[in-house]
Amino acid sequence: MIRYRDANELDIPVLVSLDKLLFPYSPWSSSQYREEISSPTRHFIVALDDAKNIIGCAGVFAPGGTAADILTVGVIPEHRGQGIARALMALITEWAKMQGSNAMMLEVKIDNLEAISLYESLGYLKLNIRKDYFGSGLDALVMRKDLT
Ligand SMILES: CC(C)(COP(=O)(O)OP(=O)(O)OC[C@H]1O[C@@H](n2cnc3c(N)ncnc32)[C@H](O)[C@@H]1OP(=O)(O)O)[C@@H](O)C(=O)NCCC(=O)NCCS
Repeated sequence: MIRYRDANELDIPVLVSLDKLLFPYSPWSSSQYREEISSPTRHFIVALDDAKNIIGCAGVFAPGGTAADILTVGVIPEHRGQGIARALMALITEWAKMQGSNAMMLEVKIDNLEAISLYESLGYLKLNIRKDYFGSGLDALVMRKDLT
C-alpha cells in the first residue's frame, strides 16, 4: 500500500537524487531543498512504498490570499500509472486551500504530455507559454485551476 507523509530534512538526500532522475534539465540542489522544506509558505509531501522508500514527491508554494504555485510533482517510473501523482496533487491542493489560496498555478515543459494530461484531468486550464522558462529553448506551458 502506498502511504503519504510530509517531507522533512532527513528526506533531502533522497529528494535530490529523485530530482536528478525526474528533472535532469533542472534538478534542485540540497541547499535549495533545505531552504524550500523549511519555509512556512511551502509544503512537500512524499509517497512511500511498502518498504518506506520514497517513490514520489510533490511540493507547493502557497502564501495565501493569492494563487499557489506547484513547485514539483514526480513519481519514479516503476510506480507510475497507479494514481500516485493524482493523490499527491490532491494533498498539496488541500494544504494550499487551508492557506487561503484562491487558485493553483504551475509551469510544465510544453512537451511533457503525461504531466499536461494529468493536470487537464484535474481541471487545470492552459494559460500561456513562458519562453526559456526551464533554460534556453525549454519553454513552459503555464496552467491554472481556480479554487473559488
Ligand atoms: C507526470 C507524472 C507525475 C504522472 O505520475 P503518475 O503517478 O503516473 O500519474 P497518475 O497515475 O496519478 O495519473 C493520473 C492521470 O495523469 C494522466 N497520465 C499519467 N500518466 C500518463 C501517460 N503516460 N499518458 C497519458 N496520461 C497520463 C492521466 O490523465 C491519468 O489519469 P488516468 O490514470 O485516470 O488516465 C509522472 O509521469 C512523472 O513523474 N513524470 C516525470 C516528472 C514530471 O514530468 N513531473 C511533472 C513536472 S511539471
